[in-house]
Amino acid sequence: MSTATESTKTTDPYFQSLFADRIGGAGYGKGTEIYKFEKIKRAKRKALADYPDRKLLDFGIGENDAMADAKVREVMSAEVNKVENRGYADNGVIEYKEAAARFMDRHFGVKLDPATQINHCIGSKPAYAMLPACFINPGDVTMMTVPGYPVAGTHTRYYGGEVFKLPLLAENNFLPDLDAIPDDIYRRTKLMVLNYPNSPTGKTAPPEFFEKVVALAKEKEFVVVQDAAHIMLTFDGKPRSFLETPGAMDVGIEVHSMSKGYDMIGWRMGFVCGHERIVSAFADVKDNSDSGQFIATQKAAAAALDDDSIPEQIRAKYKRRMEKLVAVLKECGFQCEMPGGTYFLYTKAPTGTKGGETFAAAEDATRHLIENFGIVTVPWDDAGAFLRFSVTYVAETEAQEDELMQQTKQRLGDAGLVWA
Ligand SMILES: Cc1ncc(COP(=O)(O)O)c(C=O)c1O
Repeated sequence: MSTATESTKTTDPYFQSLFADRIGGAGYGKGTEIYKFEKIKRAKRKALADYPDRKLLDFGIGENDAMADAKVREVMSAEVNKVENRGYADNGVIEYKEAAARFMDRHFGVKLDPATQINHCIGSKPAYAMLPACFINPGDVTMMTVPGYPVAGTHTRYYGGEVFKLPLLAENNFLPDLDAIPDDIYRRTKLMVLNYPNSPTGKTAPPEFFEKVVALAKEKEFVVVQDAAHIMLTFDGKPRSFLETPGAMDVGIEVHSMSKGYDMIGWRMGFVCGHERIVSAFADVKDNSDSGQFIATQKAAAAALDDDSIPEQIRAKYKRRMEKLVAVLKECGFQCEMPGGTYFLYTKAPTGTKGGETFAAAEDATRHLIENFGIVTVPWDDAGAFLRFSVTYVAETEAQEDELMQQTKQRLGDAGLVWA
């Protein structure tokens, strides 16, 4: 029986000291650090409490605002009733792999064997969690662009590896400076994770950049993982796959997602494709981690991949919205231009206001805009101070988009922002 003194000594469960170091060890759950998205949520709550009648203009959402296309939902509702779709999908059904192979050929001229060079994933996020398991031993390095999607880096650290950050700077056109990487890092690097069209900077990669990456990967002997989550939202020309680059199939893989380009965020479908041996290592790790996406979902996703009108319409909508946003922000003093792709606009954060406020970081600008003007953005302070505006806001019609833009212009005008 525990005494009163013992029971007040601590409220920790007996297993507090058992948590693994990779998630904070015995200190797990006790951190006081507040994460970026929690700060945004708190500022939104305050804005709504202080100004209950003012609508939030929410450019912070990083998710498509529409449901998947009706044709895809119809396939899903038919497939869901078929007995043959009921079981474990393991590493995936051939119908989806074949649709993915047709997609890669049609859009990029990349020819892949669906049986050996393509494997589905339950959305692309888990693929980034699994790929380090294929390559990273303690002390190995994964190169990751920052700002960026951090999952492969987190799992690299879980396996005792290290992350070497490649900053994406405006002066380098948001491409990593591959010549600035020390030789010691190249020697220990096993994975280089790239993402073009890039989130959040919106840049696309010129073919020469991918050519240089292929040459370096061969010379320094590392594997390239290119994140193509936003590829169907390319605005500055035809979407380009890394695998189109001569020699790319020898050095890496590309990871595709149905989330952004097909309005299928919650469906959790994507695929890994490229070098057969890497795809097979991924499939082995995946086979030991999950039992595959529901077969009905895979078949609906295959139907989506076969219908080019779907990504074309989604691209046209977000391009139109982006053009409107760029015009409004420019009028309000932001330095920005149309991004090459993605539904994100990444633009230098204001450093203060005409009224005398100063912002030490993008995070301060975000808080100021939410609390005082009801405008939500996401701050990025990893490589300079930038704000990310997403055009995935909810608007049913073009007239509603225009109304929202009008209000944005009015409120940003009132904010009197300045840039040092
Ligand atoms: C750059 C990038 N890569 C990958 C993902 C993961 O996408 P999903 O798991 O929905 O395929 C996201 C999602 O936000 C992303 O922005």
